[in-house]
Amino acid sequence: MVPALEVRSLYKQFPTQDGEGFHDVLVDVNFTAEAGEFVSLIGPSGCGKTTLLRIVHGLETATTGEIICNGMEVKKPDHRRGLVFQHFNLFPWRTVVENIIYGLEVRGDDRGRRMDRARLMLDLVGLSGFENHYPHEISGGMQQRVGIARALALDPEVLLMDEPFGALDAITREKLQRDISAILERQPKTTLFVTHNMDEAIYFSDRILVFGTRPGRIIEEVKVSLPRPRQADTIRASQEFAELRTHLWQLLSKEMQREDA
Ligand SMILES: Nc1ncnc2c1ncn2[C@@H]1O[C@H](COP(=O)(O)OP(=O)(O)O)[C@@H](O)[C@H]1O
Ligand SMILES: [Mg+2]
Repeated sequence: MVPALEVRSLYKQFPTQDGEGFHDVLVDVNFTAEAGEFVSLIGPSGCGKTTLLRIVHGLETATTGEIICNGMEVKKPDHRRGLVFQHFNLFPWRTVVENIIYGLEVRGDDRGRRMDRARLMLDLVGLSGFENHYPHEISGGMQQRVGIARALALDPEVLLMDEPFGALDAITREKLQRDISAILERQPKTTLFVTHNMDEAIYFSDRILVFGTRPGRIIEEVKVSLPRPRQADTIRASQEFAELRTHLWQLLSKEMQREDA
């Protein structure tokens, strides 16, 4: 079976600040994600997680290497990959529903189809009744629901999320985590999820790719075989959770020590 997503021998260099040379940001990154699999990327700040997600989306090009999405090489952004940003990135002059259907408009879907999808998405993320509000009139948690609805509206083959809960307070974060988890249980989606939160990575993932820094590269793949559906409280109290967490912590703290050295 063709994997939903395949990253092959990916290298990325950026120009150094003095503009005189290049530095390696990502080195020899290789992994696949199967259809419906939830894969997290975890690693210290600056290890290239956002860059990798942007390359998978097509917003950024690789220096060398390939991204294959369901057998087709990714060259530029298209509706087969949906992206959810940390800072929501909503259009302030568009209402909730207008933000959700933005990608459908760009794609040229007719009005009937746009409205059908909008209704489904509003219902899915629990925002029915707020469709005519503007982003500044709703909370951060609700804004991120719009961001997620906008990405899912296009029914992407792969969902890419870059620290989607990072800008939210602890309680909103927890609530949204549970809701997103429930949404993905109902409608499994191949997902690539960037976080630096170990608990979040374990809670959501089938597999966690642990990144090291300078240069960014995968140092270990950690499989999470906790049964689904997962209840946040039960999971956190389990022996397997504690073991995974200790293991991730050891890997990441070793990387941080290298950073400090
Ligand atoms: N457009 C760019 N030009 C030059 N350097 C960049 C650019 N984008 C990111 N970088 C550098 O690449 C490295 C990885 O950044 P990033 O992907 O944002 O890391 P992370 O998301 O893991 O924190 C950092 O050193 C950052 O400064
Ligand atoms: Mg980042």
